[in-house]
Amino acid sequence: MKVLAGFPQVRLRRLRQGAGLRSLVAESTLLPERLILPLFVQEGRGCQEPIPALPGVWRYSVDRLPAIAAEVSALGLGGVILFGVPARKDRRGSGADDPDGIIQRALRQLKDARPDLLLIVDTCLCAYTDHGHCGIIGPRGELQNDESLERLAAVAVSQAAAGADLVAPSAMLDGQVAAIRRALDAAGQVNTPVLSYAAKYASALYGPFREAAASAPQFGDRRGYQLDPRNARQALHEIALDLAEGADLVMVKPALTALDILRQARDHFTVPLLAYHVSGEYAMVRAAAQQGWLDEQAALLEVLTAIRRAGADAIITYAAAQVARWIAR
Ligand code: PBG
Ligand code: ZN
Repeated sequence: MKVLAGFPQVRLRRLRQGAGLRSLVAESTLLPERLILPLFVQEGRGCQEPIPALPGVWRYSVDRLPAIAAEVSALGLGGVILFGVPARKDRRGSGADDPDGIIQRALRQLKDARPDLLLIVDTCLCAYTDHGHCGIIGPRGELQNDESLERLAAVAVSQAAAGADLVAPSAMLDGQVAAIRRALDAAGQVNTPVLSYAAKYASALYGPFREAAASAPQFGDRRGYQLDPRNARQALHEIALDLAEGADLVMVKPALTALDILRQARDHFTVPLLAYHVSGEYAMVRAAAQQGWLDEQAALLEVLTAIRRAGADAIITYAAAQVARWIAR
């Protein structure tokens, strides 16, 4: 073999010999404590209802939650993020800040049963409004930004009061983090961190979620408030603003279509950064695996590792429990 005179041949393969050496030099890790499991909560008793577009994910009634939480704790997951699926919806999403609403009962039940389990809650109105938009709708069908902020702030305060450890505003309205931070502080919830869905793209990959949460917009779409997938600099602007407004942690969503944003956000900002590996990203892998077209375990581990490598400190994923079982072995 010809080698350049004076230079030793570079052999990167030296560090790839055997699993032990590969693990020793691995730059990214996938740990259960950095994974967060989404949970959908519905009315009823003893319910565990399958979601057709998300095989392996269920909607639980409140009474089933302590058992699920026990499993989540045993697996060592970082926590759960809760989504409420209310029985009734109205124009202003009254169910979202009802002290006896579905999510408030879920939070109380879980906090009571498992005080150590980290409870994150999605702070939005779309699952609670009859029109399916993330805020208050005006006379011409447009989402009214400032009128919606008061509603979102009330939702966050009621969630914190019910036991949420972190509130996660996901409506992508301007000023929502500031409005929520101010309201939490005024309510004495100064220690409740805000995890902002800061860079959330308008995405076709939320389809299965909207089926699970029955939260699809009844007219129009969310492009008037969520980020345009053609923009990257604007995503960084969103993150900067949310941090200025008092966000404690920020999220990028979806994950695989925004790995570039994760990397840039990691390089630009010092705060904890989360990625949401969304329903459509999970469903794609599941569907292909069910056809026998790819190896589900290998594919999910690869995808989630790539999201960590791009810069995410933690990942919200429907695969959290499965992955924790795979890596424990
Ligand atoms: C609510 C919300 C959505 C998701 C998380 N919070 C849906 C949406 O914006 O329409 C999507 C999560 C997923 O697809 O897994 N605003
Ligand atoms: Zn919403």
